[in-house]
Amino acid sequence: MKKRLLTGLQPSGALHIGNYFGALKPFVDEYEDFESHIMVADLHALTSVRDASVLRQNIIDVVKDYIGVGINPKKAILFKQSDVPEHTELAWMFECLVTVPFLSQAHAYKDKVAKGLEPNAGLFNYPMLMAADILLYDTEVVPVGEDQRQHIEYAREAATKFNNAFGETFVAPQEKIFKAVGVVPGVDGQKMSKSYKNTIPLFGSRDEIAKAVMSIVTDSSGERPVNVYAIHRLFRDEASLEALYTEHAGKYKNLKEALIEDIEAMVGPMRERRDAVTEDYVRTILKDGAERARERASAKMTVVRKAVGISI
Ligand code: TRP
Repeated sequence: MKKRLLTGLQPSGALHIGNYFGALKPFVDEYEDFESHIMVADLHALTSVRDASVLRQNIIDVVKDYIGVGINPKKAILFKQSDVPEHTELAWMFECLVTVPFLSQAHAYKDKVAKGLEPNAGLFNYPMLMAADILLYDTEVVPVGEDQRQHIEYAREAATKFNNAFGETFVAPQEKIFKAVGVVPGVDGQKMSKSYKNTIPLFGSRDEIAKAVMSIVTDSSGERPVNVYAIHRLFRDEASLEALYTEHAGKYKNLKEALIEDIEAMVGPMRERRDAVTEDYVRTILKDGAERARERASAKMTVVRKAVGISI
């Protein structure tokens, strides 16, 4: 019996190679070992997005991204959160069980408040919607980045609170933090992140990738451009990388060009696969995924509604 896995990705714009090596690649390598549920977290995106056409496009793009990086929609349930209304129903039940002070301790929420942003109530309740995403499918394994660890703790707490109040109903999920490559550095040497504007796009055109690589910050002392090397090691084994950097010692431009070629060799086929995905195909995948997810979610909610006493 395969373990049940669920993961979610907010539809929030173009992926970069840091997303790929940090989260997507390790996931693609392992998702078939589990009974996998892959969810587009569009309701979570509503905590910040205020432009319908942007959100619509981002949803389509994220499905294309998943296919591009190598997910086979026949080997997982790939669906959109908002297509399964049970998520918000269950989130409400959890919100009625946890306290305001407990939710106030969430890092994601506290960070926004510390930055002076006025948090909306959706952001405050975010962890309970995420708990519902996970617990609705009796999920055992949740692959997430380190930044999401606390959210899985919240999901476990929601399960415990519910089970204590209404009897054993939910399975306690475990996070699975991939530590495959450590931190992927950006073009300035800091962690690659959209908010630092130091990314190399994953599905950019060859020109866009080249432009980003050429902008990698190098200092003029020394033989080896440290920031170029730190990214390059993701694309080549150490021996051939050493040979390349020895041969072109001090020739930063050659090394950057070699990196562009190596990125292109990996991304090219993924980009081709992604480009072949039409919007119609995206709709077909999501429709099929929604049906399969809904079947499970509605069976679970029948049990949950009885447990809390609203089904009479
Ligand atoms: N909060 C997650 C993120 O921003 C996205 C997410 C929503 C998620 N629901 C989930 C991740 C359920 C894992 C499981 O990355």
